[in-house]
Amino acid sequence: MRNRFIIFIFTILAWSGLFGATTKSPHGAKMKLECITCHTTDNWLKIKEKGFNHNKTHFPLVGQHNAINCKQCHKSLVFNDAPTECSSCHTDIHEGTVGRDCQRCHKPNSWIVSNIRQIHQQQGFPLVGEHGSADCNRCHQSASSLRFNNRRADCYSCHQFQYELTSKPNHRLTGFGTDCVRCHNMTGRTWLSIGKGFDHSYFPLTGGHGNLSCNNAKCHENDNYLKKLSPDCTTCHGVSTAVAIIPAHGTKMKKYACNDCHTATTWNNVRFSIHDSWFGIYSDKHKGLWNKCTDCHNNDLTYKANCRKCHNFDR
Ligand code: HEC
Ligand code: HEC
Ligand code: HEC
Ligand code: HEC
Ligand code: HEC
Ligand code: HEC
Ligand code: HEC
Ligand code: HEC
Ligand code: HEC
Ligand code: HEC
Ligand code: HEC
Repeated sequence: MRNRFIIFIFTILAWSGLFGATTKSPHGAKMKLECITCHTTDNWLKIKEKGFNHNKTHFPLVGQHNAINCKQCHKSLVFNDAPTECSSCHTDIHEGTVGRDCQRCHKPNSWIVSNIRQIHQQQGFPLVGEHGSADCNRCHQSASSLRFNNRRADCYSCHQFQYELTSKPNHRLTGFGTDCVRCHNMTGRTWLSIGKGFDHSYFPLTGGHGNLSCNNAKCHENDNYLKKLSPDCTTCHGVSTAVAIIPAHGTKMKKYACNDCHTATTWNNVRFSIHDSWFGIYSDKHKGLWNKCTDCHNNDLTYKANCRKCHNFDR
């Protein structure tokens, strides 16, 4: 009993010695703040709730960081010793596979990532089409499912299987390369929706050529993409004599190319600009005053001009 009393007295003395007026600050010499900013007179370990405004430091406390005991971050209690990089205090669960800059994807609110789509977009691999609904681990296979390395962005590396299986057309035999985006785009839900990625500019697929199936009888018949096709209109569009085209095409018109008068939009929107060099029909007096070539021309081989429809004379 007596021993206990002595120990009690001793403890009191020790306390007042340690934490009395002579108390040494554990916060290092550089700290200029008044002790009273954070401490009360009760106990050194009781910290005032609204004593120190942490948001004035260059590490404002946001999200979950607000609810943490000071000492969890300030282990040494020398406040400016605390590291500021997320990765100094948090284990890199991704094992180095996404770099050290955690803030690219995380905020101190929670570890849940809300900008997955944006991240992929920035990497040049937007999660659109079927990719948008695929499970993460279909593309990011790893034991922890949090390692995001081993990233392959080129289509072939993930879709080699489909490529080898193609039959309509058989891509390998046809000579289609493995650069899928040349012909397919990612927004498509299936491989059949050939995208605008396909550069067909040597023969623009617009107008009357816009909505044709690639393998129609005049173009890539039987999915034969190796056969060379000429862009010359007459390879596919002969002027059939059976069709009584007006004006008669087998006349003086023959020496002109189809696309001197036609575009691929429709056969009926004709413009023969060269004409003005010998008789102005798009300029001068006649500009816009005629409807059909046959207003001036007989529909015959001679292609002579006939002005009588409107004037009192012949040419
Ligand atoms: C910005 C706030 C702040 C200021 C200013 C401050 N302290 Fe502290 N102090 C703390 C915190 C936080 C702790 C740790 C409390 C805990 O252990 O939970 C602490 C702990 C202590 C402890 C206990 C150390 C230990 O090992 O448990 C002492 C002693 C102390 N401070 C002394 C001082 C003195 C002396 C001053 C003035 C020169 C001072 N403090 C100023 C925040 C402050
Ligand atoms: C989530 C971690 C975290 C928590 C919790 C936290 N701090 Fe900090 N604190 C930091 C970081 C990081 C810095 C910036 C250190 C630096 O580079 O100066 C800092 C800076 C400070 C500074 C300024 C140091 C200086 O010289 O600029 C003080 C004072 C401080 N903290 C006190 C506290 C007190 C008191 C608490 C509890 C109420 C607390 N901190 C809670 C991380 C934290
Ligand atoms: C000075 C150390 C320190 C720094 C720097 C720091 N944290 Fe923290 N953080 C902590 C501590 C300690 C906790 C609470 C304990 C825990 O959950 O690990 C915490 C908690 C969190 C939590 C909540 C965890 C949960 O389970 O709910 C998230 C999220 C978080 N931090 C994200 C970040 C991000 C993002 C950064 C960088 C901007 C960052 N932290 C920087 C120390 C730090
Ligand atoms: C490129 C983006 C990215 C970066 C950078 C990143 N992470 Fe993550 N992190 C993720 C994704 C995605 C998840 C999975 C959570 C989800 O789907 O919302 C995740 C989850 C986490 C989790 C929670 C794990 C679990 O079991 O739920 C922690 C902890 C974490 N990350 C820590 C970090 C740390 C520490 C860093 C910095 C070294 C970091 N992350 C950098 C994308 C990232
Ligand atoms: C269809 C495939 C695919 C799906 C599904 C997918 N990803 Fe990705 N992801 C990629 C590719 C490809 C990259 C890398 C692009 C690059 O490096 O060029 C990537 C990159 C990432 C990165 C690293 C980004 C960086 O900046 O370092 C993270 C993190 C990530 N994905 C997380 C996820 C999460 C979480 C999901 C599920 C919600 C997911 N991914 C779904 C293909 C996918
Ligand atoms: C990292 C792996 C990965 C990469 C890289 C990738 N894909 Fe995918 N892709 C997938 C997964 C997983 C699916 C989900 C559908 C499935 O296979 O079950 C998918 C589905 C598709 C589909 C839907 C049809 C189908 O087969 O189910 C198309 C079309 C497609 N991808 C095109 C592309 C194109 C084009 C590229 C290159 C720009 C590409 N993919 C790159 C993994 C990938
Ligand atoms: C030079 C253009 C071109 C390239 C490059 C190309 N494709 Fe195709 N692909 C086509 C055409 C054309 C079709 C037939 C579309 C149709 O019938 O509407 C097709 C159809 C497909 C089909 C469905 C037909 C079938 O037989 O299954 C798949 C799957 C396919 N492609 C996968 C791929 C993959 C994977 C790649 C890259 C590794 C690729 N393609 C590269 C032009 C291309
Ligand atoms: C490789 C074959 C090919 C070539 C070369 C070609 N076309 Fe076509 N074109 C077609 C096919 C196939 C159609 C669909 C209608 C049909 O079968 O005639 C078509 C349709 C058209 C149409 C629309 C007809 C309508 O009634 O809707 C016009 C106009 C046209 N082509 C003009 C041209 C012109 C002008 C040229 C030369 C610049 C040209 N084409 C070269 C294959 C071709
Ligand atoms: C000197 C101008 C000119 C040239 C060259 C020309 N056409 Fe025409 N073509 C016309 C005119 C004018 C029409 C009648 C348009 C109308 O009635 O709207 C026409 C009509 C047509 C029609 C539609 C017939 C109908 O009844 O709908 C076809 C098909 C046609 N041309 C094909 C050709 C082809 C193929 C060539 C090249 C071998 C060609 N044209 C060269 C001026 C020309
Ligand atoms: C307003 C009257 C007029 C109209 C409308 C007209 N032409 Fe002519 N065209 C002429 C005259 C005049 C000549 C020159 C005849 C000559 O000097 O022998 C001519 C000459 C021609 C020639 C012969 C060129 C040569 O190389 O010898 C062709 C072909 C021709 N026109 C086609 C057309 C076509 C196609 C249209 C409709 C797009 C058309 N013309 C509309 C008046 C007209
Ligand atoms: C479809 C009707 C039509 C046909 C066909 C036609 N013209 Fe015209 N022509 C006109 C009209 C309308 C004017 C404008 C009269 C005005 O401005 O007062 C005109 C004006 C002229 C003028 C100018 C007269 C002036 O007083 O300034 C000459 C010259 C002319 N035409 C010659 C011809 C010749 C040559 C042909 C045959 C190759 C021809 N036209 C065929 C409708 C036609």
